Amino acid sequence: MRLKDKVSLITGAGSGIGQAVALRFASEGAIVVIADRNLEAAEKTQYLIEQTGGTGHAIAVDVTQEQQVVDAIATTIQQFGRLDVLHNNAGISILKPITETTEADWDLLFNINLKGVFFGCKHAIPPMVQQGGGVIINTASELAIVGQSLYTAYCATKGGVLAFTRALSVEWAAKGIRINAICPGPIQTPMLQAEFNLASNPTAEEVATIQSIPVGRLGAPDDIARVALFLASDDAVFVHGAAIVADGGRTTL
Ligand code: NAI
Repeated sequence: MRLKDKVSLITGAGSGIGQAVALRFASEGAIVVIADRNLEAAEKTQYLIEQTGGTGHAIAVDVTQEQQVVDAIATTIQQFGRLDVLHNNAGISILKPITETTEADWDLLFNINLKGVFFGCKHAIPPMVQQGGGVIINTASELAIVGQSLYTAYCATKGGVLAFTRALSVEWAAKGIRINAICPGPIQTPMLQAEFNLASNPTAEEVATIQSIPVGRLGAPDDIARVALFLASDDAVFVHGAAIVADGGRTTL
């Protein structure tokens, strides 16, 4: 067991990648606090963990609300004694040409995808330093590295996550905090399904997205959970400020 008794808090763990990370961490012995703005979805993940004999605890958290993030971290530490791993994973996408992107779209994307990461890191670092160390993982995207039309504002948020992660890792490495990012390619989750079902007939670009993946398939959520497990574990002891791309080779083209 690579995360035996490690206390982890995962945002957006009611669905998709976050749920897969929660299940994998639990299967490796971690205690998993499942944080999602959708409590019912978080409770479903808790149920799935408990079915396999693991320990999960669902809580409702909107990562755009600083006090809710503060409370989530405090609850985790009160109930389980410490916080070893924080995975800032909650995120959304909005697909629009930039000329149709409203200020409200922009603010919503940045509030969830980037400000939520800021709140998580800001409030997890002090207790982690106090307990002698910790690990933070931020979910960015391959779209932090390459561009895709309709995703311009989303790309800006994820580029921000990468720059933020690198700078923060430098700031806290000497205090025993390892901070890294994962850049997933297209992963089969409700988010991606919603994007691809925007039109009942996939656009040429959507078809091209799938065809452009060298391994010839979309990623599975657990493909990313395995990367998160590596970063959370002691195997990544010397990995700081990295952006690990897991995209079936797509960004190499
Ligand atoms: P998803 O839509 O399946 O799951 C996202 C979860 O986050 C949902 O349970 C939702 O309720 C929760 N959430 C949304 N806003 C929240 C908020 N304000 N506070 C708390 N929870 C909130 O999405 P998926 O695909 O699992 O995405 C997870 C992360 O991975 C996101 O950051 C996304 O940008 C990123 N990503 C996803 C890719 C994909 O192809 N699916 C590719 C690259 C990155």
